[in-house]
Amino acid sequence: MNVLVINGSPRRNGNTATLVEAFADEARKARHNVSIKQIGSMDIRGCRNCDACRKTLNGNCVQDDDMRDIFPLMRECEALIIASPIYYYSSTGQTHCFIERCYAFERLPKLKKAALLLTAGGGGFTSAIQTYKDAIIGHMGAKDMGIITAVVSQAKSSAKLDEARSIARKL
Ligand SMILES: Cc1cc2nc3c(=O)[nH]c(=O)nc-3n(C[C@H](O)[C@H](O)[C@H](O)COP(=O)(O)O)c2cc1C
Repeated sequence: MNVLVINGSPRRNGNTATLVEAFADEARKARHNVSIKQIGSMDIRGCRNCDACRKTLNGNCVQDDDMRDIFPLMRECEALIIASPIYYYSSTGQTHCFIERCYAFERLPKLKKAALLLTAGGGGFTSAIQTYKDAIIGHMGAKDMGIITAVVSQAKSSAKLDEARSIARKL
């Protein structure tokens, strides 16, 4: 299965990346094709609602930003993993911009499954979970494989890493 993991953290070895790596290791053991994009340190802009993607560009975007590298993976991905720290009671700005840019496809053409991995200092997961449920599961029609929420004291614990591995076994 082609798996696209979007990590909205800017920190390469942060809490979110630890969960992502546990998920990805397990998925690769089962020979899934896993691509990880750490968008928290990339130039990912919000949708401009020009509608060119739908009217004239056949799913491509007028914006010249780092989404150029990610659109080809979105076209092929069968499983989408959204991973993000909580910033001010929501996912990071880049994570939400990524979700907005899915508008180019309305629904990712091959998407079947999804999961959500969140970390936070102390909590505030509600809004990011609701967006995932509404946009990725409800609107795009993906089957939910699971949601992990981890506060910093738990994010690198064996229990949370096991949760991430067990989601990978649902691919
Ligand atoms: C700008 C900013 C806003 C944050 N807002 C919250 C918050 O609302 N609630 C919370 O519990 N933690 C908050 N945190 C803490 C991060 O969510 C937490 O440290 C997270 O695990 C960082 O993930 P990372 O190591 O993958 O980058 C915030 C951190 C930053 C930098």
